[in-house]
Amino acid sequence: MTTSDDIQLHRGLQGVYFDRTATTFIDGKEGVLEYRGYSIHDLATRSTFEETAYLLLYGNLPTKAQLEDFDARLKDARELPDQVLDVIHIVKDSHPMDVLRTAVSALASFDKDRADNSVEATYRKGIRLTSQFATIVMAHHRIRAGKDPIKPSKTLSHAANFLYMLDGKEPTAATADLMDKDFVLHADHGSNASAFTARVVAGTSADLHGAVTAGIAALSGPSHGGAAENVMQMAQEIGDPANAAQYVKDLLGARKRVMGFGHRVYKAEDPRARHLREGVLKLSEEKGEPKWYAILEAVVEAMKPYARRGIHVNVDFFAGVIYYLNGIPQDLFVPIFAVGRVPGWTVQVVEQYEHNILIRPLLVYTGEHNREYIPIADRG
Ligand SMILES: CC(C)(COP(=O)(O)OP(=O)(O)OC[C@H]1O[C@@H](n2cnc3c(N)ncnc32)[C@H](O)[C@@H]1OP(=O)(O)O)[C@@H](O)C(=O)NCCC(=O)NCCS
Repeated sequence: MTTSDDIQLHRGLQGVYFDRTATTFIDGKEGVLEYRGYSIHDLATRSTFEETAYLLLYGNLPTKAQLEDFDARLKDARELPDQVLDVIHIVKDSHPMDVLRTAVSALASFDKDRADNSVEATYRKGIRLTSQFATIVMAHHRIRAGKDPIKPSKTLSHAANFLYMLDGKEPTAATADLMDKDFVLHADHGSNASAFTARVVAGTSADLHGAVTAGIAALSGPSHGGAAENVMQMAQEIGDPANAAQYVKDLLGARKRVMGFGHRVYKAEDPRARHLREGVLKLSEEKGEPKWYAILEAVVEAMKPYARRGIHVNVDFFAGVIYYLNGIPQDLFVPIFAVGRVPGWTVQVVEQYEHNILIRPLLVYTGEHNREYIPIADRG
């Protein structure tokens, strides 16, 4: 019998490689992130979400014609079936992540490729879901406020349409660009908890909707996607840059975590953070609210001693303030992350299908053995 002494345990699967990928490369020590071999810095500054999504799914940057076709397919898929809008009405009082999870699960019933798990059909479903996620989040936002959802635009970009569906106002080019950048930065990130969850589901040959629904559930927790919401709360509690150092000291003194800092993989600064840092700076000046950038930078300053231990800002640190300054309520911050992540989940499910294997690790049993079964009448 194998004893627990013979077993090397990897709690949280930390440091464990479980498969190969040709999609996203991360060097956590150096703070490097690439999608399909392209630096995240080039993609964040020169690409668009539509182009990046195409790159993630198909492996290469699209030609002009390929991008136009892909964009048309995304735009075509923006509207939701009425039945799914009905489902959103029924669960409208839940947290938007729970509503998103329920609505995406319901969408499976209305997808014409529902029963087809081929790679081609999975891409088709992934493209549709990329658009539908955005519509679900904003339709729910309107429905819960007793308003009608804004019909998605047939012409705006993915990012601009997302903001447009918030209140029916077309965003400025600069605001849409920043949202677009945010989606690019969130589009994939290796075997994080939600992508791993999606792969575990796909590993049983379940379908994309099931895998993505499970991915949403994994993303909803604060250790993964929820940090942007918590960072904004923290910035509001701090209220003034002068209070930041004491606030951080109190938090760490109580052995609590500073949200938006630390990462399982990055022990250098998260390479995505710098693009959002620039965004917060510009936006908070533009909106005449420079204090938010100043508060965040004061927190970064207070956390400097922790950099030696590999605790740096992550992508969520600056994202929350950007959403806030765009008038987006805090409980939509994690759903926004999910909206950006659909191409990543899709391509990882496809990778899983292509060399599929059931993901089934083992647990070390620490309970008792050989216990005597006592009939219920004799139990004290
Ligand atoms: C993301 C996160 C869950 C990664 O955790 P992890 O890889 O499991 O690392 P651990 O939880 O083992 O932390 C290692 C050490 O760093 C400390 N640490 C990690 N993140 C920290 C943070 N945000 N604030 C303060 N200390 C932190 C832990 O307390 C621990 O210290 P210890 O060794 O003295 O106990 C963690 O950094 C965290 O909770 N961050 C805040 C939430 C967040 O921003 N999440 C978004 C991620 S993109």
